[in-house]
Amino acid sequence: MTSPAAEAARRRTFAIISHPDAGKTTLTEKFLLYGGALAGGAGSVKARGDRRSATSDWMEMEQQRGISITSTVLQFPYRDCVVNLLDTPGHRDFSEDTYRVLAAADAAVMVLDAAKGIEPQTLKLFEVCKARQMPLLTFINKWDRPGLEALELLDEIDAKIGVTAAPVTWPVGIAGDFRGVIDRTTGRFVRFTRTARGATEAPEEIVEPDRAEAEEGASWTTAAEEAELLGTMGLDFDMELFLGGELSPTFFGSALTNFGVRLLLDAIIDLAPAPSPRLDEHGNARGLDAPFSGFAFKVQANMDKSHRDRIAFLRVCSGRFERGMVVTHATSGKPFATKYAHQVFGSDRETVDEAFPGDVVGLVNATDVRVGDTLWLDDPVTFPRIPSFAPEFFSVARVRDTGRFKQFRKGIAQLDEEGVVQVLRDADRGDSAPVLAAVGPMQFDVAVHRLETEFGAPVELSPTSYSVARRTDEASAPKLRSMRGVDVLSRSDGTLMALFESQYWLDRLMADQPELVLEALVAGDQPT
Ligand code: G4P
Repeated sequence: MTSPAAEAARRRTFAIISHPDAGKTTLTEKFLLYGGALAGGAGSVKARGDRRSATSDWMEMEQQRGISITSTVLQFPYRDCVVNLLDTPGHRDFSEDTYRVLAAADAAVMVLDAAKGIEPQTLKLFEVCKARQMPLLTFINKWDRPGLEALELLDEIDAKIGVTAAPVTWPVGIAGDFRGVIDRTTGRFVRFTRTARGATEAPEEIVEPDRAEAEEGASWTTAAEEAELLGTMGLDFDMELFLGGELSPTFFGSALTNFGVRLLLDAIIDLAPAPSPRLDEHGNARGLDAPFSGFAFKVQANMDKSHRDRIAFLRVCSGRFERGMVVTHATSGKPFATKYAHQVFGSDRETVDEAFPGDVVGLVNATDVRVGDTLWLDDPVTFPRIPSFAPEFFSVARVRDTGRFKQFRKGIAQLDEEGVVQVLRDADRGDSAPVLAAVGPMQFDVAVHRLETEFGAPVELSPTSYSVARRTDEASAPKLRSMRGVDVLSRSDGTLMALFESQYWLDRLMADQPELVLEALVAGDQPT
């Protein structure tokens, strides 16, 4: 039997992040194609998505909006490795969920549309990767059609997110007439050939530079000259800088035609880090061969109406997970039976019997497990909590029909536990009119939709004038409460939150009354 550490060494666990429409779904599908995991050929992921949407209201909303709200976890073999791809919602508005997914990934692939570069909506997401020093690979997609200049794109990545984009491949042929790439590690030409609708792998021919020059003419010489220039510009790959999140190996390609997909996937295997021992809340590393441990990075209820359940997605951090083992829930100290452990692909589930560090397990009926909670076996451990981001949108929720108050209360508690929205209360309003707080307004739409359809509690949301939140304490609260335009509410984790109408007002208050405790909610984690 192989050791968990040996299994971990074969794992690559990463997330794809991108602006909607940049090609994340297409690229995911092509990864599965290259991993041999698409029995139906390219196209079946989308088909699967459609089927998913038909079976649940939750997904129905996803379909109406044309965006992905829920994340899926895909596992497939590639070469001698096991790839875990954590899919993230592609919408900036729903980013809190994405941040949590990133906490469970060891690396990320940033997909950019060659014609658009870095788009403002997703900038924040990339900044978070940078702030977390996450190894980031870049795929510049849609090179099969006209786009920005390659060098311009590299500059933009550097200027906007402060990461050096170091091309591992360099395109041959202008955008729109994409012939292949120079593999900068070997200096050879990788020539791509289209297949019908990209349904099968794109044949690749490796061509020596001399022959490339003879056959491709000016396209090759221009590309070769540019590629040489990159070295003098300091844009060569550097492992240390990559692992520290300072430099991003960059690839040019076209997910639609499969051009460059294999090179990217190979780079994920060759360059991206395998799972390593995770630090616990005291800063001690939990060895990969230590007894089983993992943490929940996502909790979701009622994913499928026919199941009516609650799944906690757990990233395995150490040891061997075996279905049926009884682990301990670190927060409550209670035993937790893992009889129902699944791998979840959209709403399709497969029972998982065994998992290793880097893998993701979906635990069904994990009633007490919340986002950030640790589960362990034999040797206690608690991993640090996933930081929750400072909300910027605040609305008061009230049930429309007071006869449904019980359902409303239950639904609000559930959404709070799942982290769909943060729920803030004060002693006067109690449970009847909690303030919902979100990083993006779409979180409200999801909350309203779910309260109505899952809990039978239609709600009315009234916007508030608050836009900034700070953590405060009991000593400062009375003074803050007495001020106009400030409210102090408590979050379910016990945090006292002071809400302000404007940053300006908050800054002035902090300057005038420095004795008041007004801490940023996720100090050091949130880019400004
Ligand atoms: P997303 O998940 O990031 O939102 O993007 P998705 O893969 O759905 O791709 C968005 C659109 O961009 C799709 O077109 C897709 O076919 C197209 N696309 C993806 N990769 C490439 C590429 O390399 N080259 C070109 N030219 N197009 C690409 P659509 O018209 O919205 O959908 P469909 O009808 O093609 O499915």
